[in-house]
Amino acid sequence: MYKSQLIKQTQKQYIQSTRFLSSTCQLLKWNEIPLAPPDKILGITEAYINDSNSKKINLGVGAYRDNQGKPIIFPSVKRAEEILLQKENEKEYTPIIGSKKFQNIVKNFIFNNSGKDANGEQLIKDNRIVTSQTISGTGSLRVIADFLNRFYSNKKILVPKPTWANHVAVFKDAGLDPEFYNYYETSINDLDFENLKKSLINAPNESVVLLHACCHNPTGMDLTSEQWDEVLQIIQDKKFFPLVDMAYQGFASGKPYEDIYLIRKLTKKANENEIPTFALCQSFAKNMGLYGERTGSISIITANSNDSKAVESQLKKLIRPIYSSPPIHGSKIVEIIFEEPGLKDQWLNDLNKVVGRLNTVRSKLYEKLDKSNYNWDHLLKQRGMFVYTGLTPEQVIRLRNEFSVYATEDGRFSISGINDNNVEYLANAINEVIKK
Ligand code: LMR
Repeated sequence: MYKSQLIKQTQKQYIQSTRFLSSTCQLLKWNEIPLAPPDKILGITEAYINDSNSKKINLGVGAYRDNQGKPIIFPSVKRAEEILLQKENEKEYTPIIGSKKFQNIVKNFIFNNSGKDANGEQLIKDNRIVTSQTISGTGSLRVIADFLNRFYSNKKILVPKPTWANHVAVFKDAGLDPEFYNYYETSINDLDFENLKKSLINAPNESVVLLHACCHNPTGMDLTSEQWDEVLQIIQDKKFFPLVDMAYQGFASGKPYEDIYLIRKLTKKANENEIPTFALCQSFAKNMGLYGERTGSISIITANSNDSKAVESQLKKLIRPIYSSPPIHGSKIVEIIFEEPGLKDQWLNDLNKVVGRLNTVRSKLYEKLDKSNYNWDHLLKQRGMFVYTGLTPEQVIRLRNEFSVYATEDGRFSISGINDNNVEYLANAINEVIKK
């Protein structure tokens, strides 16, 4: 072929391909894509960053800050990273559901209380727990939601009112049908246990039910062990499938083993085949401070080892086309912390200190708040990273506009943003917006 012919042919192909492109562009109406609203939680940080007031306070996202207002790396995590740097000699892909070592650590830590929980031990021995590493807590929620959408014929998922702002989005995007059950009553700033039970009893049998294991997000109000027992009886009678979200293990008492009454009870009921199956989403984002490392897990408790094989194979099939396999840095840190002599104790100690500071700022804020026309006692009943103030969206917006205090509009304050330098300023700002 002559050069000029070749050029003509290439030009023709080019024109055809641009025609094709412009026709696809017309199918996608770029100018009709609506602007999405900012994320209810992460959007707060964006607004905070753009504020030039030197007194600004970020009480939005649930991420720990020290008394100087700075993010931290747990000393135990730093030590694990040093060890990792010395030892690591490959960056290979981990299996689709994470390394066996990571899976076993999670199973043993959560379901067997590192050797202290006989029920969990039996489930592990019977191969009734399938664990996969996931992209932190949100990733694990999405994986289980996709899994349920594929294999669980009832798409109804009952979620507490209120719940973490992202839960409903995760479940809806996965094709499930979220519906609220009563949980908290803002007018009395307390748990609404009677209506909680009523709404569960009135919900369709065999629904999926979302339970927060501890440090309920956003309210910080948890059920007592007696209340959990009652709820679990309803779950058993109604044949619900429990899906537990545990993002803050350790933040209630400072000790991870003390915070998991619900898991221990569910494990017992699974062992006795009263609630034979359930699932648990968990992450090390908060309790090891591995936020950006995106390190978490999904565990599905099955009725028998044959089911486990099928479930595991389906988890692999589900995860592979989404993100292939999870990141390795965070899971290796977890492995080292659990394996290296003394390091786990150091981690538990680091965590305990973090929770201690949160409890201190909770009481300091409480002390400085004006109680003459507002009862703040609920602050002391709530646990974990948040206080659910009961402030109205208008009051929260006033805090933002007049005092550069940033919190989510539901009145949730992430108290790790409070420290000795700003607690006075914050309390004065709150006292101002609640004045009648
Ligand atoms: C929160 O509730 O603030 C955290 O869980 C962070 C997040 O991703 O929303």
